[in-house]
Amino acid sequence: MSTLQIEDLYRSFGSLVVTQHVNLSIGAGERHVIIGPNGAGKTSLINQIGGQLRPGSGRILLDGVNIIGQAPEQVLRSGIARTFQKNNLFFNLSVIENLRLAVQARRGNGLQCFRPARSLTAIMSRAESILAQVKLDANGSRAVRELSYGEQRQLEVGLALAGDPKVLLLDEPTSGMSPAETAGMIELVRSLPRELTVVMIEHDMHVVFSLADRITVLYYGEVLATGTPQEIQDNERVREIYLGARH
Ligand SMILES: Nc1ncnc2c1ncn2[C@@H]1O[C@H](COP(=O)(O)OP(=O)(O)O)[C@@H](O)[C@H]1O
Ligand SMILES: [Mg+2]
Repeated sequence: MSTLQIEDLYRSFGSLVVTQHVNLSIGAGERHVIIGPNGAGKTSLINQIGGQLRPGSGRILLDGVNIIGQAPEQVLRSGIARTFQKNNLFFNLSVIENLRLAVQARRGNGLQCFRPARSLTAIMSRAESILAQVKLDANGSRAVRELSYGEQRQLEVGLALAGDPKVLLLDEPTSGMSPAETAGMIELVRSLPRELTVVMIEHDMHVVFSLADRITVLYYGEVLATGTPQEIQDNERVREIYLGARH
């Protein structure tokens, strides 16, 4: 069974159809990259998976359970996490404090101050392990406002990991990054636990082909092709419509 199964998904904004006939099966641990021209409906698709945008019709199954209709917070509890560009960071707190608060919030402890020492230790050790996972070990005590842009985006991935998701959604995680920062993000995604399923939108073809197990090409809200990187590269329609064109 697929971890994430999308069946005949449809969504429009008035007369503008942004998702139609979308069927996708994404397996456990797969790195699935969604590509397509601007306006193809990539972000709308991710928003429907994350619960931020309600589909018009169709089903989205996580481990066989339809999550359509769940509020974003419920989707997160069900096991699908995503990054939010910077909105979630506390700029005046340290990196490790940001992670600790995220782990604490996701474990249902809210921001309570008085916890048994044992659970605080567990929270702290989980925060430390995420710190290493997102390659910020050397920056744990720095204030977030002092981090580079690339480091802040690494931390956003860390916050998404705090809820121990099954599926991680990333919307153009390398956008606005320098080549060195982009290389760092590739490295980070590569080193995520192999059982974590990653669905990411990406426009940088180097990043796409560095990370993807499978690629889906969206075009006018529809799936033009889904396949391995080799299959996508060899697909004539994809070459004509997307890879051959300049974007
Ligand atoms: N909330 C909205 N209301 C109306 N139109 C929208 C809304 N969100 C996105 N769109 C439109 O839907 C189309 C697909 O957008 P989007 O999913 O962001 O594409 P992509 O991420 O592939 O660039 C675009 O034409 C965009 O302008
Ligand atoms: Mg987009």
